Amino acid sequence: MNNFANNKIEMNKTILITGTSTGLGRLAAKHFAEKGWNVIATMRSPEKEDELNSIANIKVLKLDITEPQTIQQAIMDGIDTFGKIDVVVNNAGIGMYGALELTADEDIDRQYAVNVRGPINVIKSFLPYFREQRGGKFINVSSVMGRSTALPLGSLYNMSKFALEGLTEGLYFELKPLNIELHLVEPGGFESNFGNNITFSKSETIRDYDLITSNVGAVLNAVNKPGATASPLSIVKTVYNLASGKNNSFRTVVGKDAKSVLMLRKILPIKIFLNLLSKRFIN
Ligand SMILES: NC(=O)c1ccc[n+]([C@@H]2O[C@H](COP(=O)([O-])OP(=O)(O)OC[C@H]3O[C@@H](n4cnc5c(N)ncnc54)[C@H](OP(=O)(O)O)[C@@H]3O)[C@@H](O)[C@H]2O)c1
Repeated sequence: MNNFANNKIEMNKTILITGTSTGLGRLAAKHFAEKGWNVIATMRSPEKEDELNSIANIKVLKLDITEPQTIQQAIMDGIDTFGKIDVVVNNAGIGMYGALELTADEDIDRQYAVNVRGPINVIKSFLPYFREQRGGKFINVSSVMGRSTALPLGSLYNMSKFALEGLTEGLYFELKPLNIELHLVEPGGFESNFGNNITFSKSETIRDYDLITSNVGAVLNAVNKPGATASPLSIVKTVYNLASGKNNSFRTVVGKDAKSVLMLRKILPIKIFLNLLSKRFIN
């Protein structure tokens, strides 16, 4: 007897996406729904949502990735609504920027809690169900910053996405025999609410980080605005191709900026790569 089973029979595939209140998650929810998928669009504050609720094959549910009980409830309610869940997108994420010395301890903990512990919570909550189904797919939204520094003063965000990459690689071995797939998406900059949500630590008293802080601040202001190198839709299409099995790559890099950074990182000795990047920000 399957603990998660109910009597609804559903032919369409079902995807659960975290962080669908804005940005990539929101666009992905609409795109999958347009393509005929059942979508469990999860967010921290579903009471504020109107638009996604009005789309027939979207079910909006509360899910805060730092609160495992909300994940477990969303899994149960999602299965109850659509009969099954085939794919999970770990999309929700935040960015803490600024010199480490200037960053509050609670912001350091929050970067880890959301970007690292959050996907762990989601994956761990799904595993009993995916194990029972003998199948499932996790698509983890990482970043170019998951494999290389691309922008200074992002050590904590860098750390969080490197950790997500390590987690995803490390899980491969135990989940492969269970027919549970893992994929990573590595975008460069794209337009979303990410920039508005960034916590950028600065100081009025410690002035030693002023130059780098002002140079990085100028770049951060532009990175999630219209004209960013990759269109949000191109990232969504990458997620779609992975979910639907058109792309089976373990890692998919999206955006010219991400591709060129990773190419330079691959061909240059690390010290030369880091010095090239630092010339732009600390000279
Ligand atoms: N935009 C870029 O340039 C870029 C580049 C590379 C990678 N990424 C990655 O892409 C993913 C999506 O980001 P985005 O650019 O679309 O940014 P976004 O517009 O800020 O969206 C982030 C989403 O995460 C949600 N979220 C934050 N904390 C959460 C929590 N504890 N539980 C559940 N949801 C939570 C936010 O919900 P609330 O509204 O409730 O805060 C929001 O819906 C992130 O993982 C990010 O690291 C972005």
